Amino acid sequence: MILLKSPEELALMHKANMIVAEILEELAAAVKPGVTTGELDRLAEDLTYRKGARPAFKGYKPHDVAYPKTLCVSVNEEIVHGIPSGRRLKPGDIVGLDFGVVYQGFYGDAARTVPVGKISDRAERLLRVTRAALYAGIERAQVGDRISDIAHAVQQTAEGAGFSVVTDFAGHGIGRSLHEDPQVPNYVRRGMPNPRLQEGMALAIEPMINEGVSELRILDDGWTAVTADGKLSAHFEHSIAITARGPWILSEVANV
Ligand code: MF3
Ligand code: CO
Repeated sequence: MILLKSPEELALMHKANMIVAEILEELAAAVKPGVTTGELDRLAEDLTYRKGARPAFKGYKPHDVAYPKTLCVSVNEEIVHGIPSGRRLKPGDIVGLDFGVVYQGFYGDAARTVPVGKISDRAERLLRVTRAALYAGIERAQVGDRISDIAHAVQQTAEGAGFSVVTDFAGHGIGRSLHEDPQVPNYVRRGMPNPRLQEGMALAIEPMINEGVSELRILDDGWTAVTADGKLSAHFEHSIAITARGPWILSEVANV
């Protein structure tokens, strides 16, 4: 069941997502060679409480292992759900930062992938294309479009550049829960649930795009998804609302 949000509810979701966006800005600025992924997690958690919110991911338990941290940090061939640790970032790494909060009962969720120091041209291109895929999807988040229009735009952008789309994870509705209906896949599949987009829907659109094959495996920690071929992966995410005036990006700060 898809829960439509009132303007008042969307205003609260905007607040939750602005907290996410501001913290992601600070985290991106803190990404430097020598910083550990665990330090980024502690920064995320401190800032979350300082802004009067609480972490959305910590303790989240969709299967037998609860997610143990506030932030997901996915380096290089890690696609999503990398668990912060003592790992030190080094020049040339690409780092996915995926972060969510709960604020006044509503969830915010967004992600971006950032370079550490100077990165290779192919890594640079993967980041650029994945971000472009997100924005191409957002562009199709219009009243009267369907979920498949978003999915198609993301897929075309990624595959048109020679990259592959991760099919084992999808975006999602968002609101008083982190994950609500509908699913927002990043590729089109015959027979997929394909609702028409309506005013008041709130969606997290989150392409995960691989340099090589789309297949993945999950590490023994029960969470970290890595590319099957060990090649790079990138992830960008925004929470958006469908409005009569077009998509409203709830988690965007200027110049990101
Ligand atoms: N953006 C991801 C998602 O919406 C983050 C989830 S991490 C988790 O699925 F730990 F909460 F699962
Ligand atoms: Co999400």
